[in-house]
Amino acid sequence: MVVVVLFWGGKGITSTATYVGSEECAECHEEQYENYSKYSKKAHSSDSVKIMASDLDPDELAQCYSCHATGYGKPGGFVSFEETPELANAGCEVCHGPGSLHAEYGDPEFIKLEMTVEECERCHNEDRVENFNFKPLIFGGAH
Ligand code: HEC
Ligand code: HEC
Ligand code: HEC
Ligand code: HEC
Repeated sequence: MVVVVLFWGGKGITSTATYVGSEECAECHEEQYENYSKYSKKAHSSDSVKIMASDLDPDELAQCYSCHATGYGKPGGFVSFEETPELANAGCEVCHGPGSLHAEYGDPEFIKLEMTVEECERCHNEDRVENFNFKPLIFGGAH
């Protein structure tokens, strides 16, 4: 069994939270959820994979999921479109981290607020991230 312990910088959180999907955040963060759903490309990032899926083998598809879906390969993360449709897009939790504990208790201690450019570079290449002009665009059109 793999036990993953996450240490969020600064806040000193030790958490075993898993992924729940963006819709679970909507109830308490209506405004962020509305903006994300309406304006962010992340909210539709599974479409980009689906349109190309028939030309790809399973290994190639798995690569797509690591950036276009939420938490692929991590505890409670995306598995497949059939099993985990709520995690099919790159949701709130690709930036804020797995949110199960926070969504259950509403305690801000259990969710990550601040993030660094390195975390964006996991999915976005360095040049592009520089072009984001990081500060103004750190919300990534998400809200
Ligand atoms: C049951 C209600 C509830 C749910 C569900 C919920 N939150 Fe929250 N969230 C809160 C409350 C309460 C606060 C603290 C008050 C505030 O700052 O608005 C908060 C604060 C936050 C913060 C700021 C943390 C800080 O340090 O100031 C972030 C980021 C956040 N939530 C993200 C999320 C995400 C992502 C989800 C879905 C995975 C989510 N929330 C689901 C209630 C909730
Ligand atoms: C898990 C991977 C992942 C992470 C982490 C991530 N992004 Fe993204 N982001 C994507 C994907 C995938 C798209 C494109 C979706 C599509 O078009 O299919 C995207 C799109 C964007 C866009 C395009 C504009 C728009 O309307 O969505 C911006 C800007 C952006 N991200 C900024 C950021 C920033 C800033 C961070 C770090 C705080 C970040 N992203 C972290 C995966 C990620
Ligand atoms: C390392 C992360 C990463 C991987 C792996 C990845 N993508 Fe992307 N993809 C992105 C990001 C980030 C964007 C948004 C580009 C931008 O705006 O900077 C994007 C954009 C796209 C777009 C264009 C969407 C648009 O609206 O213009 C398509 C289509 C796409 N990806 C399909 C795929 C497919 C299919 C795979 C697997 C074979 C894949 N991607 C693998 C990160 C990734
Ligand atoms: C591209 C990354 C990214 C995504 C995706 C994202 N956020 Fe955020 N979010 C941020 C950043 C950056 C901040 C501000 C951090 C700071 O103040 O330093 C933030 C701040 C917040 C806050 C604190 C209040 C505020 O608006 O400043 C809440 C609540 C929140 N996000 C909820 C959400 C929810 C809910 C979703 C999904 C619907 C979401 N976020 C998606 C990057 C993101």
